[in-house]
Amino acid sequence: MNTLGQDAKNHGAAVGLSVDRITINGGKPLIGRIELRGAKNLVTKAMVAAILGDGPSVLKNVPNISDVRIVRGLLEVHGVHAKEGPEDGELILDPSAVETAHMADIDAHAGSSRIPILFCGPLLHRLGEAFIPDLGGCRIGDRPIDFHLDVLRNFGAIVDKLPSGIRMSAPHGLRGAKVSLPYPSVGATEQVLLTAVLAEGLTELSGAAIEPEIMDLINILQKMGAVITVATDRVIRIEGVPRLGGYTHRALSDRNEAASWAAAALATEGSIYVGGARQDEMLTFLNVFRKVGGDFEINDEGIRFFHTGEPLHPVIIETDVHPGFMTDWQQPLVVALAKARGVSIVHETVYEQRFGFVDALVEMGASIDVRKECLGGMRCRFGQRNFHHSAVISGPTTLRGADIEVPDLRGGFSHLIAALTAEGRSTVSNVGIIARGYENFITKLQLLGADFTLDA
Ligand code: EPZ
Repeated sequence: MNTLGQDAKNHGAAVGLSVDRITINGGKPLIGRIELRGAKNLVTKAMVAAILGDGPSVLKNVPNISDVRIVRGLLEVHGVHAKEGPEDGELILDPSAVETAHMADIDAHAGSSRIPILFCGPLLHRLGEAFIPDLGGCRIGDRPIDFHLDVLRNFGAIVDKLPSGIRMSAPHGLRGAKVSLPYPSVGATEQVLLTAVLAEGLTELSGAAIEPEIMDLINILQKMGAVITVATDRVIRIEGVPRLGGYTHRALSDRNEAASWAAAALATEGSIYVGGARQDEMLTFLNVFRKVGGDFEINDEGIRFFHTGEPLHPVIIETDVHPGFMTDWQQPLVVALAKARGVSIVHETVYEQRFGFVDALVEMGASIDVRKECLGGMRCRFGQRNFHHSAVISGPTTLRGADIEVPDLRGGFSHLIAALTAEGRSTVSNVGIIARGYENFITKLQLLGADFTLDA
């Protein structure tokens, strides 16, 4: 098995974040070893949580991805001092000089991130005001923030919508609230956590998201001095405290990246050892991976995902909130389902429009029909609303190389896998989006034996 050399890592750090198009000669199995770093969907929130502390925080296992750089830039325009620590992947954040930022600066740094909405609670506590520009994020649906704004109003914030964004103020401070989320939204749950910890009194949140990244954020807040309990019925209770200190924390690994490389091993008929992957965070994924016909070996440091040499089987997947099958896991797996013998169904119940990526797969020869019906047993918010949120994948099909463009982060990784699986040559453009969430993915492809060239 290959291991990641330092020079290859440096090379990947350089090319992985700046290249825009790669040409891939498909049909080779990916074989080797990669190492995960901290989860994108925890690290970015942990960085925001540092604002709440009255001392510096140290975050470890931080990945070199553009979403982290975006949040670091946003923290710095708000006067938070950020610097690399002595360890690789360590970030030291000092919020002592936090200040109101200029709208233009926030807008310039916010870019394609949705994280700015999570600055509200911490900034309202520290400064009594916050400004949020119109948000970005992958185009996988409307991505509303109504839950967030309702939550902040519940805590006593005054929310003014402006042409350029949203201004908030809390002239009388923030008070604990009883909040019930209409859907277990990850972001809205984080909004409650980051606001309630310093609010006066008790907050009770029902209908909360309980993803491992949420639980790791709770670990961080407890280290800072927060008092938080999580009940088995998705009810989280937070007792507001007068002050919070800094934290030192090693972020949990990125299970979404692990699932992406596992899907790549299956589709290319290879074998990839993913260091840092944890069984307890991927239980549902592992069940589906095995049902499709893949297999895995688990040890204390990670998981080896591999194709068994046998034909793949069709499955019915319904995405859901944790502990269900994560919405971020389906895109990379769809390529393997295109090779399975039979008809698979993916009923996407978290986002209304998350099958845009299949157009490129169909162009390459996949047989995928995206339907408006809820094709599954789950009650879904998108039924009878004309959203094409169920995919019917018929196989086996052989993918042929094509020129494709990355539409969003997870769909983009699916495009990489399709190009690696297809017969012949493909060009994948706009790959910079993939660097938002996958650290050094170019280096990792090299180490796994992929046959490609960079067209910077
Ligand atoms: C987080 O997005 C993740 N992003 C997503 O990962 C992930 O897919 C998603 O959670 C679900 O697990 C980050 O953590 C940065 P939600 P988030 O609020 O918080 C609706 C990736 O590729 N909703 O749980 O934005 C929303 O439209 C990304 O890493 C409202 O209606 O997701 C969606 O249908 C993609 N109003 C559902 O809730 C709101 O105010 C779930 O969204 C908020 C959300």
